[in-house]
Amino acid sequence: MVLGSAHSVLSRSGSAEACPPRVLDQDVVSSPLAFTPALKRELEPLYERVKHVVTPMEWVHYAPIIKAINELKAERNAVILAHNYMTPEIFHCVGDFRGDSLQLAKEAARVDADVIVQAGVHFMAETSKLLSPDKTVLIPDPLAGCSLASSITPEDVRALRAAYPGVPIVTYVNTSAAVKAECDICCTSSNAVKIVESLGVPRVLLIPDQYLAKYVQTKTKVEIIAWKGACEVHERFTGEEMETMRAAEPGLKIIAHPECPPDVIAASDFTGSTAAMIDWVKTKRPTKVMLVTECSMASNVAAETPDVEFIRPCNLCPHMKRISLENIYEALLYNHYEVTVDPTVAAKARRAVERMVEAST
Ligand code: 13P
Ligand code: SF4
Repeated sequence: MVLGSAHSVLSRSGSAEACPPRVLDQDVVSSPLAFTPALKRELEPLYERVKHVVTPMEWVHYAPIIKAINELKAERNAVILAHNYMTPEIFHCVGDFRGDSLQLAKEAARVDADVIVQAGVHFMAETSKLLSPDKTVLIPDPLAGCSLASSITPEDVRALRAAYPGVPIVTYVNTSAAVKAECDICCTSSNAVKIVESLGVPRVLLIPDQYLAKYVQTKTKVEIIAWKGACEVHERFTGEEMETMRAAEPGLKIIAHPECPPDVIAASDFTGSTAAMIDWVKTKRPTKVMLVTECSMASNVAAETPDVEFIRPCNLCPHMKRISLENIYEALLYNHYEVTVDPTVAAKARRAVERMVEAST
């Protein structure tokens, strides 16, 4: 069963509206250091990590700012949590911890640092703040939202609670802290089935991604009631495209994220979270693979698996792509943009996230 209307999704943009507008400082976004022969030599080990996916010409631009970011991190006792959808120069060269939503949430809870820079989207930064309330959490661009997070409000969740009394509400982590505060427990794409079954009830509400809910329904006997949210990146893929690619590329393996529509998942060889997809490629070493997810992830895996050929259906997430080396540098220099969560909301939302972390360890 899917609740909500397509209009309610389309009428809200993917931005995190509560945040201040971003002000660019032109003096800062230009590289703070020159690409000298000494710098080239010093950063050679970092270039080794990305040389299959970053050209020498691009490296001339990236290297000085990578060095400046890594120096600022040390000065400020800061860490960068980089989601799998970051571009390779961020993911491999300045990210201290890399992973899917669950891995980054767990890292935020245990990391020993004064400052966390979230190289990801706003709901991820809020999750880090919930789990690390005493740390300064920064998001380099406050408009890095998510179409799933903006598809549902706390009022919507209260209405669901009234319509389905006694039915637990599981929220995908791709929601605002205010929505999480109204829910019983969180889940991510890597633990959704486990979380739903951990509740020991015959029926749950699983919000807001209708496609994740449909996927989970194929894996459990628990009845799933869904909301009509969707990821604007994954909902664009179609089963027909998968068949076309298979016909054009003999031997192709297709692996898909569970935010994809059911016909895409049915046409794929494997379905899993971003971390599970990466593990699959690294373990199986297919000759030719197509990752049906955000485009940068293929570059990040390709950097480490040059023996695998990647066929790239390049759907970019406009929110993830707001994060750049330049605004990460500004974030560390100017404390841009601090993420805070109202303490009353935070206490309730934290419970939902902590219950997930407990149930998934
Ligand atoms: P993962 O938890 O699989 O990394 O998914 C996060 C996300 O935003 C996918 O679009
Ligand atoms: Fe949200 Fe989709 Fe972007 Fe992930 S890829 S942040 S689910 S819009």
